[in-house]
Amino acid sequence: MLLHTNLPKCTLRSWKKEDKADLVHHANNRHVWRNLTDVFPHPYTEADAEFWITFANKAAPSIHLAIAIDGKAIGGIGIIAGEDIARHTGKFGYWLGEAHWGKGIATAAARAMAAHALSGSLFERLEAPVFAWNPSSMRVLEKVGFVREGVMKRSVFKDGQFTDSVMYALIKNA
Ligand SMILES: CC(C)(COP(=O)(O)OP(=O)(O)OC[C@H]1O[C@@H](n2cnc3c(N)ncnc32)[C@H](O)[C@@H]1OP(=O)(O)O)[C@@H](O)C(=O)NCCC(=O)NCCS
Repeated sequence: MLLHTNLPKCTLRSWKKEDKADLVHHANNRHVWRNLTDVFPHPYTEADAEFWITFANKAAPSIHLAIAIDGKAIGGIGIIAGEDIARHTGKFGYWLGEAHWGKGIATAAARAMAAHALSGSLFERLEAPVFAWNPSSMRVLEKVGFVREGVMKRSVFKDGQFTDSVMYALIKNA
């Protein structure tokens, strides 16, 4: 499943081999890594980028897309499909290169991705656990319509410390 969406601020499209250098450039950043799961490597090498670009295009029913401006990848957005009884729940995530923060890009990308995912039959629920120290991501989700469901105390061990995460969710037709 691929989404090719031209938004006012960016395009969501499949990852391409040609994105490797841009992916390393934007992803190799501690401030990005610190707000993501440890599946996201740090430092972020060319080999990591090559692996990701191949993996992202074979992940169905999960969806992983590049966020691009003027054809160049500046970040990523994705939905990981759950399994078993959670198979209609998608874990929603996104990141941008730090030079592009604060311009409404993540909000535009997240709004388009969520609308696309909930227009199909697979996802009934999209959920995004956000580290308690990440208010800008909470704001992105709130602007898109996600609802704050609660705080999961000390559910995360990241960057050498325990922290709370805040669960946000968007339910189809709610
Ligand atoms: C989180 C992230 C995706 C936000 O991207 P972005 O394009 O800067 O987000 P937007 O510009 O669309 O919206 C950010 C909002 O947060 C607000 N914000 C920024 N810093 C804030 C803070 N410290 N406290 C509260 N709100 C804050 C902005 O004012 C804006 O809200 P507004 O439009 O109402 O003014 C980006 O910072 C990033 O990639 N971070 C690293 C990875 C990450 O955190 N991913 C999400 C994991 S859950």
